[in-house]
Amino acid sequence: MPTLSHLPPLPWWGGLYARHSRSSTLAAFALAALTLSLAPAARAIEIKLPAEKLRLADSPLPGAALATAMCYTCHSAEYSLYQPPTSPRTYWKATVVKMQKTFGAPIPDDAIDPLTDYLVKTYGAERAPAPAPGPTAPAKK
Ligand code: HEC
Repeated sequence: MPTLSHLPPLPWWGGLYARHSRSSTLAAFALAALTLSLAPAARAIEIKLPAEKLRLADSPLPGAALATAMCYTCHSAEYSLYQPPTSPRTYWKATVVKMQKTFGAPIPDDAIDPLTDYLVKTYGAERAPAPAPGPTAPAKK
C-alpha cells in the first residue's frame, strides 16, 4: 500500500488534503478491523432448516408416495402440515381437488382418494392420537 511518505512534498494546501486523506485511511482501517472482528460471528451463524417440517411424513398408506410425488412442486409440505388437525376427510378431498382443478396440479383422478386418505389419516381428523405418526405407526384401515 503506498504511503504518504512516497509522495513529493505537499504545498501548504496539500496539508489539508493529507490530513483528510490520513483520517479516511484510518477510517478505512477501522472499518476493516470492525469487519474482521465481526466476521467470525457472522460465520458462526448457521441456518438450520427443520428438515422434518419440509417433507410429508412417511406412511405405509399408498397415498404417501403419491403426495411425495405430487405435493411439493408448487409449495412446501408446510401447507399440509399446518392445516387444522381436526380437518375432516371432506376438507382434505376438497383441498386435493382444489389443487388439481383450481391450481392445475397434474393429479390424476384416481390419485385423489388415496391422497385424501393419506392426508386425513396423517394430518387430519382421522390421525392416530399418538404423537407424530411415523413409519412405525400402524396403518389404520
Ligand atoms: C400446481 C401447483 C400446486 C400443486 C402441485 C399443489 N398445490 Fe397446494 N396450493 C397451490 C396454491 C397456488 C395454493 C394457494 C397458495 C396460497 O394461498 O398462497 C395451495 C395451497 C395449499 C394448501 C393451503 C390450504 C388451501 O386450501 O389453500 C394446502 C393444504 C395444499 N395446498 C395442499 C396440497 C397438497 C396436499 C398437494 C398434493 C396433492 C398440493 N397442495 C399440490 C398449488 C399447488
